[in-house]
Amino acid sequence: MKKGLILSAAIILSSLASASFAGDAATGKAQSAICSGCHGANGISNSDVWPNLAGKKQAYLANALQMYRDGRRKNKMMSARAKNLTDADIANLAAYYASLK
Ligand code: HEC
Repeated sequence: MKKGLILSAAIILSSLASASFAGDAATGKAQSAICSGCHGANGISNSDVWPNLAGKKQAYLANALQMYRDGRRKNKMMSARAKNLTDADIANLAAYYASLK
């Protein structure tokens, strides 16, 4: 009985977690205004020193943003922008840029 309860709680929690990490591209697009100055309005940067984001793998983008936020990857420009992003912000932004061509 107890075991079943714990199991179903775990299943509910893990489905919630995967839902929140799926990311919503439309929300990400709205949030990307602060990124587009460097990474371009369509994820194609207009400078040699700023990377393109359009069409990169979603998990790669999310991972990169988490690393900037946590300090595992350091870059003056990106660390400052990533430090206040929530997990949901990261998932949405990654979904948006991954959806671009
Ligand atoms: C002031 C310019 C600037 C702004 C604004 C900016 N970035 Fe960046 N971004 C960079 C630079 C420069 C790099 C490369 C840093 C490095 O070498 O690690 C980068 C790298 C990245 C990477 C890793 C790309 C890769 O190929 O590994 C991601 C993902 C990213 N930015 C997302 C974002 C998002 C999302 C935003 C908005 C919240 C944002 N950036 C805002 C300049 C900027």
